Amino acid sequence: MRIGVAKEIKTDEYRIALTPAGARELVQKGHEVLVETTAGEGSAMPDADYERAGAQIVSLDDVWTRSELLLKVKEPIEPEYKRLRDDLVLFTYLHIAADEPLTRALADSGIKAVAYETVETEDRRLPLLAPMSEIAGRIASQAGAYFLEKPLGGRGLLLGGVPGVLPGKVLVLGGGVVGYNAAIIAIGLGAQVTILDKSIDRMRYLDEILSGRVSTVMSSTLQIESMIGDADLVIGAVLVPGARAPKLVTREMLREMKPGAVIVDVAIDQGGCVETARPTTHTDPVYKVEGVTHYCVANMPGGVPITSTKALTNATLPYVEAIADHGLAEAVARDRALALGVNVIDGKITYEPVAEAHGLDYTPLADVLLG
Ligand SMILES: NC(=O)c1ccc[n+]([C@@H]2O[C@H](COP(=O)([O-])OP(=O)(O)OC[C@H]3O[C@@H](n4cnc5c(N)ncnc54)[C@H](O)[C@@H]3O)[C@@H](O)[C@H]2O)c1
Repeated sequence: MRIGVAKEIKTDEYRIALTPAGARELVQKGHEVLVETTAGEGSAMPDADYERAGAQIVSLDDVWTRSELLLKVKEPIEPEYKRLRDDLVLFTYLHIAADEPLTRALADSGIKAVAYETVETEDRRLPLLAPMSEIAGRIASQAGAYFLEKPLGGRGLLLGGVPGVLPGKVLVLGGGVVGYNAAIIAIGLGAQVTILDKSIDRMRYLDEILSGRVSTVMSSTLQIESMIGDADLVIGAVLVPGARAPKLVTREMLREMKPGAVIVDVAIDQGGCVETARPTTHTDPVYKVEGVTHYCVANMPGGVPITSTKALTNATLPYVEAIADHGLAEAVARDRALALGVNVIDGKITYEPVAEAHGLDYTPLADVLLG
């Protein structure tokens, strides 16, 4: 198959959808790989590395017109709509339940659009979202520790303490992928960590794998109220699938917090779990409310494109290979997880929540493929 890798044109997006190592794997399997010129530069992956891996460096027009399968990181944006076509398979993050113009553009073009974020395994894991949550979780503790420094507006406390001085206290709201990764970095720094979650099974698991190095507590408003005043760093990492994040931390609770304490609301991309949170950017990541520093960067993994590109492509490559080796129809017939990734195909919406979100007709994928 001829596989294209387009350059991202969204502001502040430095990732690329395939590493040179991934290109090499595909070329070795007999596929042709076309990489848009300078597409890997933001991730420190120059054209020459792709050429050495056996890929061809091509122009913007060529990557879109010559590819049979096009790999991207972010959803197509308006200037790219005109390039969508019915004999192309697009594999990328789409998030179209929140984007009606793009949903319509995809459907009108007849393209086969497979979304990373809805690929879902039988045990309900989201394998192509998890790497970004892992990265965001790890950044959360790192950024929190940094913004606790006095010259940056923080309390002036070293999260890990030193011998003879107590460490700082970290409260992690939600012990999923983000929360777990935030916890292991905070523990690594030497902080005292408590994770609040709603799921007793998840807390049992965390307790087991972290060998008791964190405390786990059932999440409730009363519990958060009673613990927040003592925390130096609060990390918001909750997710209620398909819904906006619940507001677990209210403005009133902030008044109980220590001046210069830090909140990192990772859940900001789902609206945030802190009442006073609003999205920020890597160039201007923090602001204060009631004396508490808020860090609410909506695309945290974007700050570390080298790591994010590698982590993303580690996760996507097996699916890319499956589509390239077998074609989309056969690949989705073999793998239900990948089938769930198909959002729009031949003008039909095949992912029910997307159809519902926009009041459009839903067509089961099997009906399109068999029909
Ligand atoms: N800002 C960013 O750059 C960025 C990057 C990646 C992920 N995220 C976001 O981070 C959030 C967490 O993602 P994840 O992958 O860890 O999800 P996840 O599903 O793995 O974990 C969410 C956890 O929240 C728990 N939870 C639900 N309601 C709760 C409540 N009321 N109190 C305490 N815990 C509760 C769940 O039981 C679950 O364990 C999501 O909103 C995700 O979109 C943001």
